[in-house]
Amino acid sequence: MIFAKSSTRTRVSFEVGAYQLGGRALFLSSKDIQIGRGEPISDTARVLSRYVDGIMIRTFDHAEVEELARFATVPVINGLTDLTHPCQVLADVFTIKEHLGGWDGKRVAWVGDGNNMANAWLEAATVLGFELRLACPEGFEPNHAKFEAAKNSGCVMVTEVPEEAVEGAHVVNTDVWASMGQEGEAEARRNAFKGYTVDSDLMRLADPKAIFLHCLPAHRGEEVTADVIDGPQSRVWDEAENRLHVQKALLATLMGS
Ligand code: CP
Repeated sequence: MIFAKSSTRTRVSFEVGAYQLGGRALFLSSKDIQIGRGEPISDTARVLSRYVDGIMIRTFDHAEVEELARFATVPVINGLTDLTHPCQVLADVFTIKEHLGGWDGKRVAWVGDGNNMANAWLEAATVLGFELRLACPEGFEPNHAKFEAAKNSGCVMVTEVPEEAVEGAHVVNTDVWASMGQEGEAEARRNAFKGYTVDSDLMRLADPKAIFLHCLPAHRGEEVTADVIDGPQSRVWDEAENRLHVQKALLATLMGS
């Protein structure tokens, strides 16, 4: 497990998941291995492939994961890049299945930054075909190519109006306004995202049985109010738990005998 960014859920769920399946995971901070001193990713991929049965990487530039996958001869798992966070959205759709019985006919609302999680939701909608409505301020829209791909295979829309996205939604979800690496933009982003807080007034527009999801960590009082994330519609702790089950499924699928 190579980490160029911080992690609680991804690190611990992969590490515990590997252990529970009878395997072992190594935590490698990119600062402590030679990648941090400029060793090419292609060389790292070829060397690690001689030692391990799979590589999980969390990094900034998505191209680094693609480079690693191109040169590795073992499975490579994207543990989050600036472009997308597939392990998280797998846990999220699993949580929808667990609590709502599935995603057919479901409307999912995304409120806030068109970040890697918004892009991951677009990827999930492309594959699974549920309705996805994203409310993002101007200038913070999701990745254009991922949006076009999702639009071609399902019912996807982007609006600047949170109420339009949440109206009748079965799932309402959001993420922090400043992701890892954007800490210097936090103040500017707080201004840009005014009006995009998921609060109880916004939740009242959703389906009465709607659930609230957040990949965590959360900033209460910014993208979500405490009464929503800690309230009866929140499923964030099940969502976090599901990272473990989904990680184990990924490991078993990619590396199981
Ligand atoms: N949601 C998520 O990926 O959490 P961590 O950053 O703690 O791994």
